[in-house]
Amino acid sequence: MVRLSSESAWAGDLRRNKQRVHGMQVHIPLVAEHNIISRMMEATRRLAGQVRGSGQGFNGQDTVIDFLCMYVDRCHHVKEEEILFHHLEKKKIHEGDRKTMEELIQEHVFIMKSTGEIMSARAEAGSRGDEEIVDQRLRILSGYYLEHIRKENETFFPRVLKYFSYYEQNSILQEFWRFNEKIPLEKYHAALHKMETLTGMASYPSMRLFQSV
Ligand SMILES: [Fe+2]
Ligand SMILES: [Fe+2]
Repeated sequence: MVRLSSESAWAGDLRRNKQRVHGMQVHIPLVAEHNIISRMMEATRRLAGQVRGSGQGFNGQDTVIDFLCMYVDRCHHVKEEEILFHHLEKKKIHEGDRKTMEELIQEHVFIMKSTGEIMSARAEAGSRGDEEIVDQRLRILSGYYLEHIRKENETFFPRVLKYFSYYEQNSILQEFWRFNEKIPLEKYHAALHKMETLTGMASYPSMRLFQSV
């Protein structure tokens, strides 16, 4: 019996080490996307502030709106809701974790509703030549989004990893990769590069997709 117990502990250690060394945890690609989104939100806030001070129009508005619709919603939110959350829904998860997941989904709805309102304001502002209201709304949405990211990175993702085995996490990661093949990611990485260049922020040679986690 002692020997069995010892072997079991050894197998557990091996499995954990395998996960640490060879396995990427399931939330890592989502956190990497948060890094891209945070940088875009930061560039948006800086650019809107700089332009406000100079009295000129903020010429990155369309870029940011397209990024919010396509990269943030059609890519990132879809991966969270239709892949990760979908798999979580099939598990018996703690009530508190389920509640947080529902809050995150509601926040996605609010973010896209706000984006729709910004698009309408942008269309009206274009005809009036008054873009400050659009800048203001983009700055507010940026702050809200950074808080949403903090909640996922620091609270939700660390708590839900325990529901998936090493093999389940690998399977979900495969779904993420397959999904990525349908998305023109380079276009949105280039949009970030453009925004950071417009703000005069140092332009990074790469997107550093996995270095921040
Ligand atoms: Fe989210
Ligand atoms: Fe997210």
